[in-house]
Amino acid sequence: MSIKGKNAVITGGANGIGKAITLRLAEEGANVAVLDLQDGPGQEVAGQAREGGVEALSFQCDVTSYDQVKKAVAQTHEKLGSIDILINNAGIDRGLPFVKTDPELWELIINVNYRSFLIASHVCIPYMIEQNSGNIVSLGSDAGRIGNPGEVLYCGTKAAIMASSKALAKELARYNIRVNCVSPGPVKTELWDRLHEGEKGQRVTEAVTKSIPLRRLGAPQDVANVVAFFVGDDSSYLTGQVLSIDGGLTMIG
Ligand SMILES: NC(=O)c1ccc[n+]([C@@H]2O[C@H](COP(=O)([O-])OP(=O)(O)OC[C@H]3O[C@@H](n4cnc5c(N)ncnc54)[C@H](O)[C@@H]3O)[C@@H](O)[C@H]2O)c1
Repeated sequence: MSIKGKNAVITGGANGIGKAITLRLAEEGANVAVLDLQDGPGQEVAGQAREGGVEALSFQCDVTSYDQVKKAVAQTHEKLGSIDILINNAGIDRGLPFVKTDPELWELIINVNYRSFLIASHVCIPYMIEQNSGNIVSLGSDAGRIGNPGEVLYCGTKAAIMASSKALAKELARYNIRVNCVSPGPVKTELWDRLHEGEKGQRVTEAVTKSIPLRRLGAPQDVANVVAFFVGDDSSYLTGQVLSIDGGLTMIG
């Protein structure tokens, strides 16, 4: 591992997968900056990271706002001195048949999932170009690779992140910036629990678990471990990749 002393920005780092990524990168010696809507949990994660001896910042930030992200990243750069790693993790989902969705919901999901990826990348990449190094890992999803009923919008935004990451990987390789995606299957977080409330949700969760060859839902740590691989030197010859983390559910690739 080689990220000791590097500075990482993590969107949506206050909970779930983003929290596990933040703490794992901090464990590896990276300084971390959490950008999240939720201030209390964000501060808590930063506090936990600091206990391990790294610097950790937390910004209450709506990642759909270009100005808010720009300000938080500029402050991170000012305090820590560089922006080495960007983790595009913030995301939301709503389970609804497409015909029951409306343009307001389309806008929300597209903004939080895809536009935030564009914003944070657009804000962080100039720092990386300037220092001629950088590493971007974004959260795709197996839903965006295979399609899931009830998640038409979500699947589209995740596919967009994975496709744009490949294009970015080609654009940015000359600046020594690597761009990859992790593509989780079902991971037990609040996002999963909200989508699978009640008895029906319980039944779906059980059925999904049975269909996973490794017979369990993913844990946030499973994703954080692969993100740590992508940001470290062990993956130094990888860029433009999408790696499923799904207990063998899709076996894509
Ligand atoms: N849980 C799964 O099964 C699963 C599967 C595949 C991919 N993913 C992806 O992993 C990522 C994390 O998901 P999770 O399950 O940990 O979700 P989560 O709901 O547990 O956490 C998401 C975090 O993002 C933050 N957030 C949401 N909107 C925001 C905004 N506008 N500005 C700033 N922060 C915002 C939330 O406050 C929260 O801290 C998402 O991109 C999701 O699509 C999750």
